[in-house]
Amino acid sequence: MGQATKSEPEVAIPPENRSNPREVLPCESHEIAPDEGRIACVEHLQDALWQARFPEVQVLIDSATLQARVRALGEQIARDYDPNDPPLLVGVLKGSLVFLADLMRYIPIPVTYDFVAISSYGAETRTSGVVRLLKDLDTSIAGRHVLVVEDILDTGLTLSYLLELLRTRNPVSLKVCTLLRKPARQKVAVPVDYCGFDIPDQFVVGYGLDYAERYRNLPFIGVLTEVEIL
Ligand code: IMP
Ligand code: MG
Repeated sequence: MGQATKSEPEVAIPPENRSNPREVLPCESHEIAPDEGRIACVEHLQDALWQARFPEVQVLIDSATLQARVRALGEQIARDYDPNDPPLLVGVLKGSLVFLADLMRYIPIPVTYDFVAISSYGAETRTSGVVRLLKDLDTSIAGRHVLVVEDILDTGLTLSYLLELLRTRNPVSLKVCTLLRKPARQKVAVPVDYCGFDIPDQFVVGYGLDYAERYRNLPFIGVLTEVEIL
């Protein structure tokens, strides 16, 4: 009481977001069914409400487009695996949480899931190149089909480290599903079995992805466009 409210830190625009063109390509062609048009209207309204609260973020992939693509990925995954020998989904914390939660509800076979946590960034937008396992799996993957679920493939350092580690544990198969991929930034070749969207070299937030832990709860993928002064 009587105390000045502590102001939050200013959010600076990452340099790669200042001038790049915004071109997003689904990794494979996919179509939105006609009856999803109605749902899309509701989701556009929801995006607009969120954007009014976060004016510094510009929508790159709206929530209707995201949901349609995540659904297509889930259905593809369900077709590719045997329901009698379903995969263990391995989410990479924290970024993949929202994607994994949506994705698994579009996979109508009895999958299970677990998480690993890996650090490769501080509160910065460029990878430090140093990858560290912060939390391991709770379960053994020997003899299991494993599908790693990641939010974004940037340089590829995180995923190549994780895949190498998991391969030593003798899973029957090891595949990768990433929501986003930045082809221009890839340093290490990582085989991707399922990919949502190829995006330009811009720092993105929302749908689980953060900037200094913020913006994970946005229902769409966006780019930071202006300095926010709180
Ligand atoms: P990589 O090791 O360079 O491929 O980076 C992978 C990790 O860095 C991702 O799992 C994200 O957590 C984070 N990351 C990379 N690019 C972005 C971005 O544009 N926005 C938010 N996080 C990102
Ligand atoms: Mg991640």
